[in-house]
Amino acid sequence: MEESLLVRKIREGTVIDHIPAGRALDVLKLLGLTGKEGYTIAIVMNVPSKKLGRKDIVKVEGRFLSPEEVDEIALIAPTATINIVKDYAVTLKRRVEVPPRIEGFLRCPNPSCITNSPREPLRPRFEVISKVPLRLRCSYCGDELSEEEVVRQLVGVHARSG
Ligand code: CTP
Ligand code: ZN
Repeated sequence: MEESLLVRKIREGTVIDHIPAGRALDVLKLLGLTGKEGYTIAIVMNVPSKKLGRKDIVKVEGRFLSPEEVDEIALIAPTATINIVKDYAVTLKRRVEVPPRIEGFLRCPNPSCITNSPREPLRPRFEVISKVPLRLRCSYCGDELSEEEVVRQLVGVHARSG
């Protein structure tokens, strides 16, 4: 494999494979990985892939993902596979999946939505009404979130809450 000529295998950690080409840095940002945390990280970008033409790969030694992080990755890299590596072997491989409902980690763009209420806001909740292109609808006010807005919220300049 061409990729293994670029980067060695990891001993233990997570390999996020089949990321759409050009999205690797967004995935790292989403995970809050800046390089200053001390993890050994490999970023492979724009390598040939049978399925995708070109793809990116992110390998993080010693770091595993929470279910919420996996859902967030699904939103910005829907083709990704998550490989858990233990003792150099892939012990678990799974495709990410855009969940039918998103709770908690995205904000409704409507300032008068009850999820944005300054007093006693409700936890934001969205239904996925389209996966390609991604479109979400607020369960409370019906306002829609576009893919661009989702990406902006997840990897934008402002720190995520929660
Ligand atoms: N990998 C790694 N370190 C390991 C084991 C695997 O970095 N100790 C990486 C591989 O280089 C590959 C990914 O994890 O990028 C998945 O590994 P594997 O399942 O062995 O590769 P494939 O069979 O090619 O995966 P797929 O079928 O998902 O394309
Ligand atoms: Zn709303």
